[in-house]
Amino acid sequence: MSFDALPADHPLATGATADSALVAALEGRTPTHRPVWFMRQAGRSLPEYLKVREGTTMLESCLEPALAAEITLQPVRRYGVDAGIFFSDIVVPLKVAGVGVDIAPGVGPVFDHPIRTMADVDALPALGEPGDGSAVDVALDPIREAVRLTVAQLGSTPLIGFAGAPFTLAAYMVQGRPSRDHMAARELMWSAPDVWEALVSWTSRAAGLFLRAQVLAGASAVQLFDSWAGSLSEAAYVEKCAGGSRAALMAVADLGVPRIHFAANAGHLLDPMGAAGATALGVDYRTGLDEASRAVGGRFPLQGNIDPAMLAAPVSTLTAHVQDVLDRGSEAPGHVVNLGHGMPPHADPDVVKRVVELVHERG
Ligand code: CP3
Repeated sequence: MSFDALPADHPLATGATADSALVAALEGRTPTHRPVWFMRQAGRSLPEYLKVREGTTMLESCLEPALAAEITLQPVRRYGVDAGIFFSDIVVPLKVAGVGVDIAPGVGPVFDHPIRTMADVDALPALGEPGDGSAVDVALDPIREAVRLTVAQLGSTPLIGFAGAPFTLAAYMVQGRPSRDHMAARELMWSAPDVWEALVSWTSRAAGLFLRAQVLAGASAVQLFDSWAGSLSEAAYVEKCAGGSRAALMAVADLGVPRIHFAANAGHLLDPMGAAGATALGVDYRTGLDEASRAVGGRFPLQGNIDPAMLAAPVSTLTAHVQDVLDRGSEAPGHVVNLGHGMPPHADPDVVKRVVELVHERG
C-alpha cells in the first residue's frame, strides 16, 4: 500500500506502524501474530479511567487533548493490545460543529432539537471542506492535537480513528436520544425521503471530516461504527444508508489507511457493508467468522468476534470460546481479534488481560 498522500511524519509513512500486526492483518498480509484490541476498551471498566475522568463530563474530556490521549493509552498499557482506539465519541464531530448535544451518563447522546423536517436539516451548522480553515475545521484542532499526543506515545502500536456511521448518527438525531428500534429514523426515511437524504448527506460529511482529521494527525486505520444498522432490512440499508457510509469512508480512501466497517446484529448486511467502501469488516458475535467470510466471498479481512458475555464465563469456557474464534477467523484472508460488540462496563480487567495473552500465545 502507498502512503504518499499522508504527511511525511505519519506513523504509516515513517514505517513505524506499517508492518504492525494490526495493519498487516487488515491489509491481508501475514502478521507476526494475531492482533487483538477491543471495542470500547478505553474507559468504562478501568479504575484508572474513572480516576482521571473525575470532575469532567464525557464531552469535556474528549476535547481536552492531554486527557483524551491518556485515556486512549490506558488500555494499551494495561492489556498490551495491538492497537489503541481513539478516546472520543461518535457525537464529538456534531458537538464541535455546534449541534446542541450532550452525553447523559448511563443513557448516551441526547439532542436539544430532534431533526424531523427539512427546516431542521437546513438549520444544522455548515460543515465546510477538510482543512479549509472554516469554523468546524478549526474546532477539530483539539482532536488533531489529542491524536498527535497519542501517536507520539504509542510508537509502533497503531492508533485506530473512528466515526459513527451516517445512519447511526442520523438515528440519534431524529430520535433525539437512544432508542431500541430507531423507529423515528426508520419512519422518516420512508415518510420524508428528501429530508432523510439531506440529513444523511450532512452526517456523512460530519463523519468524513472527523475521520480525515484523525488520519492526517496520525491514525493508522479507521473504523466506522454503524451500531444500529442491524435494525434495517438489507433493502433499506442499501437504498437509504449505504451511500452515506460509502461517502464517509471515501473521505479517507485517498490516504490509503485500512477502513473497517462494523455493525452489530448485522450478519444479513455484511455483503452490502463491504460494498460501501470498506477494506475490512467487523463482525458481531452472532455470526461465526467462517460463515461471515463465506458470506462475503472471502474478499475481506475480518474483525471479531468474542461474545462479550463470555468474559464472565469460567476460564475453561472462555478459553474454548476464544480458541473457536481463532479457528474460525483463520478462514478469512486476515483476522483481527476483537469482541463481537463493546466491552461491558463491568468487565473484569484481569480477564480481559488473560484474553489478550491467550490470543498472543495461540494466534
Ligand atoms: O472504544 C473506545 O473505548 C473508545 C472510545 C469510544 C467511546 N464511544 C467512548 C465513550 C467509542 C469508539 C465510542 C463509540 C460510540 N459511542 C458508539 C459506537 C459503538 C457502540 O457501542 O456501538 C455509540 C453508539 C456511542 C454513543 C454513546 N456514547 C453511548 C451509547 C454511550 C453510553 C452511555 C453510558 O453512559 O452508558 C456513550 C458514552 C461513552 N462513550 C462512554 C465512553 C467511555 C461512557 C461515558 C462515561 O464514562 O462517562
